[in-house]
Amino acid sequence: MDTSRMAPEKRPQEELNRALIFLGPPGAGKGTQAKELAARYRVPHLSTGDMLREHVSKGTALGKEAKPIMERGDLVPDSLVLKMVAERIERPDCSHGFVFDGFPRTVAQAQYLGEMLKQHGHRRPLVIHLVIDPSLLLRRLTGRRTCKACGEIYNVYERPPKVEGRCDNDGGELVQRPDDREEVVAPRLQAYEKQTAPLVAYYRRLGLLHDVDAAKSVEEVGRQVLQSVQSKRGAR
Ligand code: AP5
Repeated sequence: MDTSRMAPEKRPQEELNRALIFLGPPGAGKGTQAKELAARYRVPHLSTGDMLREHVSKGTALGKEAKPIMERGDLVPDSLVLKMVAERIERPDCSHGFVFDGFPRTVAQAQYLGEMLKQHGHRRPLVIHLVIDPSLLLRRLTGRRTCKACGEIYNVYERPPKVEGRCDNDGGELVQRPDDREEVVAPRLQAYEKQTAPLVAYYRRLGLLHDVDAAKSVEEVGRQVLQSVQSKRGAR
């Protein structure tokens, strides 16, 4: 039965029961797709970017350390990120799987995650690689606006809200991320190429990688992602 067009409350409950990783450059659509998929399987959506931004807005010690690094488009050191992630995936709500968005981002993070999953008896992760030409990313990033209240993601060019500056869901204020300013986009893309892109080969070697064409519409990308996940649901 094709359940992809059913309202979420009418769909039979499917289980994810594994870690799913969205891998791709800034603006490829990781957050947009990860939210949908996590809601579909009713598992936590774990965005290390959102977790770090929360630390920054609360002014925690971690947030104070991360803020200047994020503002210049570099990666936060592995030691800080790994502790934060380890603490999160040990919580009971992760026992039936979870969706990572923006993690792992270095080979060291991927190796650490592999060990953690083994220790906690989880299956091997499934990695969705969002493939996109870098020339499309500037428009996606500089056009992005996010709802301050619910986190819904818009794009002033591609997915504008019905009322300018206001979220369609709850009327919340739409804001631009400081690192989406044009001058920060290039360093973020360089950090991706240097530190994160090697994960494509790493996960391909392990046979865990699924390429998805991320230049297509949000809906079409979502369909491809779901197909990849469903084709591998039973695999160890
Ligand atoms: P993070 O928050 O993870 O940002 P990122 O990886 O740069 O990715 P983005 O959130 O910018 O893009 P996305 O792929 O999620 O795209 P989205 O769906 O929003 O990280 C921020 C910073 O935190 C890092 O720079 C680093 O400093 C630090 N950090 C985080 N994790 C870390 C880690 N593990 N280790 C070290 N440091 C870490 O979409 C973008 C726009 O495009 C939106 O407007 C959307 O509406 C639009 N869009 C999406 N899909 C489509 C489509 N198919 N067609 C048209 N438009 C689309």
